[in-house]
Amino acid sequence: MKTETMKQIGILGTGMIGASMAVLFTGNGYKTTMFAINDAEADSGRGRYRTYYKDLIASGLVTYDQAAACENLLCITQNYKDLENVEFIFECVVERLEVKHAVYAEIEKHCGRFKAIASSTSAISADDLCMGLKQKEKLAVAHPWNPPHLVPCVEVVKSAYTSDEALMTIVDILESCGRAPVVMKRGAPGFIGNRLQHALYREAAYMVEQGIASPEDIDKTLKTSFIPRYTSIGLFEHFDYAGLDMIVSIHDYLFPTLCNADKAQDLIRVPCGEGNLGYKTGKGVLDWSDVDIDAFRKRASKPYLGFFNWTLPEKKDGEL
Ligand SMILES: NC(=O)c1ccc[n+]([C@@H]2O[C@H](COP(=O)([O-])OP(=O)(O)OC[C@H]3O[C@@H](n4cnc5c(N)ncnc54)[C@H](O)[C@@H]3O)[C@@H](O)[C@H]2O)c1
Repeated sequence: MKTETMKQIGILGTGMIGASMAVLFTGNGYKTTMFAINDAEADSGRGRYRTYYKDLIASGLVTYDQAAACENLLCITQNYKDLENVEFIFECVVERLEVKHAVYAEIEKHCGRFKAIASSTSAISADDLCMGLKQKEKLAVAHPWNPPHLVPCVEVVKSAYTSDEALMTIVDILESCGRAPVVMKRGAPGFIGNRLQHALYREAAYMVEQGIASPEDIDKTLKTSFIPRYTSIGLFEHFDYAGLDMIVSIHDYLFPTLCNADKAQDLIRVPCGEGNLGYKTGKGVLDWSDVDIDAFRKRASKPYLGFFNWTLPEKKDGEL
């Protein structure tokens, strides 16, 4: 449910994450103003926003009329003054500290009413980010997973200065949009999800390099063995259920054989150095030349459609 007191949300940046957050906030009935640096960014932001809604309509989750009612709540501006009444800001600009600090300075100059600012940063610490604000207590990191309008988890990290009020504002708004915010006890590189994901990827690359299995068979094992379980129960739940005595035996036997590389492995580094970057160049660890990319994208988003739980705004008479 929309938080009744929140009047207007501001988004900084119109890229992949900014446009997706705009879909999420308007999709849950919030008036949203998205800041673009120039005409081209404003147009591409609007285009992305509409593409995300087109996909939601095609998936049967949103009707055309509902999408139109959502877009009525969106304003795209190139003028910071239009953000003067926003109470909550989601910052989604490029991953450069000096750019993030520059936009925070504009926010403090033009927005007198904001209660909290959440940064979507993938890697920069909340302690470094808040140094760009006079009101340091209003910022926390809220790291979304792409695309945030479909993936519920948002990893929230406080700085040493973040106030309880700002943290509550961020958590309340995310929950009101059906997200699943996880407030970390302290910051750590990769937050939670990417630490888990890349630990798995490191071991997968190691198994390929050691001639244990092919990338295709590792992917097949993931999709058909334990990964589906973890959409409905957790890792700790599963292993407590299995019995910790068995897990201790497995860990003592297995851990000495697992990968402990402390930098990117050759399986990835070598093709990368040769310009084989994956899908975008046609070849990475896998060959992408014959892959139907639309079908791939549909497969990638399909599991998340089941999480769809928005409170869509009502269409009023006379609206588009
Ligand atoms: N793409 C992902 O998968 C992903 C996932 C989680 C978090 N993030 C984080 O979200 C943030 C945005 O990433 P993205 O993928 O949307 O990037 P993007 O390149 O798609 O968009 C970046 C946006 O920043 C804007 N921008 C650049 N300079 C600016 C300035 N001086 N003032 C205002 N706006 C400016 C650009 O116009 C663009 O709209 C980054 O911090 C990134 O680390 C990205």
